[in-house]
Amino acid sequence: MKSTRILGVHSGHDSSAALIVDGKIVADVAEERFSRIKHDAGLPLRSIDYCLKSQGITMADIDMIAVPASSSMPSLNHIFDLKGERQEKLPFKQAAIESVRTLLKKVGEKPPLYFKNFPAKESTPVVHVNHHLAHAASAYYTSIAAGEKQLIVTIDGIGDGISCAIWRGDKGKIELLQKWGAESSIGWFYSNVTEALGWWHGDGEGKTMGLAPYGDYTKCQGVLEKYHPKFANGQLAEPHDFGRMFMWHERGAVQWHFDEAYAIHELVKKHGREHIAAEAQRVLEEQVKALVYPWMEKEQTQNLSCSGGVFLNVKLNQRFWDDGKIKHHHIYANPGDAGLAVGAALYAYYQANPSAPIYPIQDLYYGPAYSAKEIEGILDARNLTYKRIDNIEEFAATRLAENKIVAWFQGRMESGPRALGNRSILMSSNRPENKDVINARVKFREAFRPFCPSLLWEKRHEYLQNARDEFFMITSFTAQKSKWDKVPAVVHADKTLRPQTVNQQFNRRFWNLIKEFGGLTGEHLLLNTSLNIMGEPMICHPREAIRCFYDNGLDVLVMDNFVLEKNG
Ligand SMILES: [Fe+2]
Repeated sequence: MKSTRILGVHSGHDSSAALIVDGKIVADVAEERFSRIKHDAGLPLRSIDYCLKSQGITMADIDMIAVPASSSMPSLNHIFDLKGERQEKLPFKQAAIESVRTLLKKVGEKPPLYFKNFPAKESTPVVHVNHHLAHAASAYYTSIAAGEKQLIVTIDGIGDGISCAIWRGDKGKIELLQKWGAESSIGWFYSNVTEALGWWHGDGEGKTMGLAPYGDYTKCQGVLEKYHPKFANGQLAEPHDFGRMFMWHERGAVQWHFDEAYAIHELVKKHGREHIAAEAQRVLEEQVKALVYPWMEKEQTQNLSCSGGVFLNVKLNQRFWDDGKIKHHHIYANPGDAGLAVGAALYAYYQANPSAPIYPIQDLYYGPAYSAKEIEGILDARNLTYKRIDNIEEFAATRLAENKIVAWFQGRMESGPRALGNRSILMSSNRPENKDVINARVKFREAFRPFCPSLLWEKRHEYLQNARDEFFMITSFTAQKSKWDKVPAVVHADKTLRPQTVNQQFNRRFWNLIKEFGGLTGEHLLLNTSLNIMGEPMICHPREAIRCFYDNGLDVLVMDNFVLEKNG
């Protein structure tokens, strides 16, 4: 039987493209990885090119184009050379919940002559999927428990006029139960606090979360009350007027500002940064729980699937899991807008094939790979002295046991925000000072921010309380007390870890490496941070890895079986 190939294309904050074949994700990449512009909001031309080339296909092989936006976009006409009103001729009327698209930059009637595009077949339909529906689809159609009824929750700043929505996933279909607009944006509230703390809206929220455990919310409980919407019994009890939204393009990305950030900044000065961060985190957790739990009761399900940028908040995810009310807790591992291309394409596929099998997501290695021959050629062209080592896992484990910092570049790049052992900087976490060492020598980022561990799946109960499979660093867990001083460089101020449990089946090389390291040191766990410098997207290409290696204090760069070593 002929396969169904759907190309998902997201153009906006974190532009991306993805390819779904018969319901399976086969390629997914954000444009920032090619352009090197963080959160790149340009047209995802290189991402589309990669998706097609990775499978050796052209637009002639694409059966459908899925776009996570409710309204038509003139730029798509240029990308796919769509004639006339093709975008309006949808094969099925798509949950066009609202048609608000403020991000769209209009382009001219005709593209410039040098514009390299991807002409689609005359017969290829373009399907528009609402922004939040695409988030919901990314969660539901990747869940291990999709065979059972799910409550799906999507929360972000805003997308297609929606800031949060509650959905039912059942029997291969997604149904909207309720949605709320800008007046309920708990995401904007958290971002306003982030701006008040001195970081960028839509970028620095993870820093706010990282700072929160250093503070004590009881020192300022309630002071943010005027700045957020309030939920009770699964409903919006008090809408919040955020005032005027300022939005502009800068540094190749979309930027936001609300004037409330100024008022919150005064509170930061009065009460202290850590305490305001802690209070913002408390408010977020409390409000999202007040929204979600009543719906789980109403729907009589213990299965919760989540997506949308707010679920990048691993502490929020931990609170849900620790409450013990959830049987299957699934957070799509790329819950921000970069995951929308996958979501739109999955939705389009299952809308047409509701009884087709659903494939639970097991890894996120959907990005570009470079062969040993390509890597060797790149090293030779630069006249670099390198070694080729057969048992690369044993070699790297030995260097890590010597407390060296190792860049580990293997196979296909991760989609999503976390390095999961293919574009990683690794170090032993057995010494408390290593967190500061890696910050000072390699990452150049704020000292308070925690680092994540990658640990052997088999050892998860030794390190994590209330452990479950967690392959994507998307939920934190309280660390087992016996490990607090054994792996101090990855234990956060609140004694939590944000782990990747590494399964041999999904990444054999990385699993072997950690196993070897465990054999040498007794700890089957490594500090794992993304291969890049603060403020840059994750590294994609070997050339960028080489640049990064010589621009900071990394000791060893391993690419495939090739090794570059300083002073070695
Ligand atoms: Fe979103």
